Amino acid sequence: MASDGTSLKDRVAVVTGGGHGIGAGIAARLAEMGAHTVICGRSRPPLEETAQAIALAGGRCRPLRCDVTSLESVQELAAMVQSEFGRLDILVNNAGVGGTRVPLHQLPLEDWERIFHTNLRGVFYSIRCFAPMMIAAGRGDIINISSLAGKNALPNGAAYAASKWGLNGLSYSVAEELRQYNIRVSVICPGSTDSDWGHSGKDRGKMLLPSDVAHAVAMIVTQAPQSFASEILLRPTQKP
Ligand SMILES: NC(=O)c1ccc[n+]([C@@H]2O[C@H](COP(=O)([O-])OP(=O)(O)OC[C@H]3O[C@@H](n4cnc5c(N)ncnc54)[C@H](OP(=O)(O)O)[C@@H]3O)[C@@H](O)[C@H]2O)c1
Repeated sequence: MASDGTSLKDRVAVVTGGGHGIGAGIAARLAEMGAHTVICGRSRPPLEETAQAIALAGGRCRPLRCDVTSLESVQELAAMVQSEFGRLDILVNNAGVGGTRVPLHQLPLEDWERIFHTNLRGVFYSIRCFAPMMIAAGRGDIINISSLAGKNALPNGAAYAASKWGLNGLSYSVAEELRQYNIRVSVICPGSTDSDWGHSGKDRGKMLLPSDVAHAVAMIVTQAPQSFASEILLRPTQKP
């Protein structure tokens, strides 16, 4: 796989939730490969810090505020990308939230709403706003960051798991809708990753790093046009 700072030259990539953790790692990797990256999130300071770090490393990154739970906010982001760049090659739907670690019958209602509005509805809004640009261009990569919790049971995290199982179903289905336009919709399901999330009781030294998820994204976007790796399950080598 080419990763020489030119393999994505002049491509445009949007990474939702790109100010922190896994999203920041993905944006840094795509910028290092030559892409113009656009990162978004709700709070500005981490976006600006990440964009500065990418620029210092020689990459191009535009930080923009966007709340993926608001259709209006995602529409504004898409309009900005269209007017500023006139194209979108890579969309990484990474923004996501967990919730209080309790049995489902004790889960606060607002946690349920926040988890589903961000992890599932947010991806719907993003695809709704950005897919038309890719359809018009007749190409693109949409990568949804799910979780191994979208493949397994997660006691005390049922709503999070359900949102990611839902995201997997959404991804497989949209992939079939969009492949006729040469748009590859893929899903990455990482296990425990050492981001800003608290992972109590786990050995951080054994966890995946954001750069490992970024590596999977880099593999997907550098495939030959006829090849479509539709799903990557990414586990830490040793159980943390
Ligand atoms: N860490 C893990 O172990 C792990 C494992 C498997 C999958 N994942 C998935 O990986 C993704 C990234 O997780 P992470 O560990 O990197 O978490 P993180 O460090 O908490 O980062 C989450 C990012 O999403 C953004 N975000 C949250 N709500 C948003 C909204 N409504 N609109 C726009 N941006 C929003 C946050 O920025 P603001 O707060 O500023 O909006 C932040 O930049 C998530 O989808 C998560 O489910 C994580």
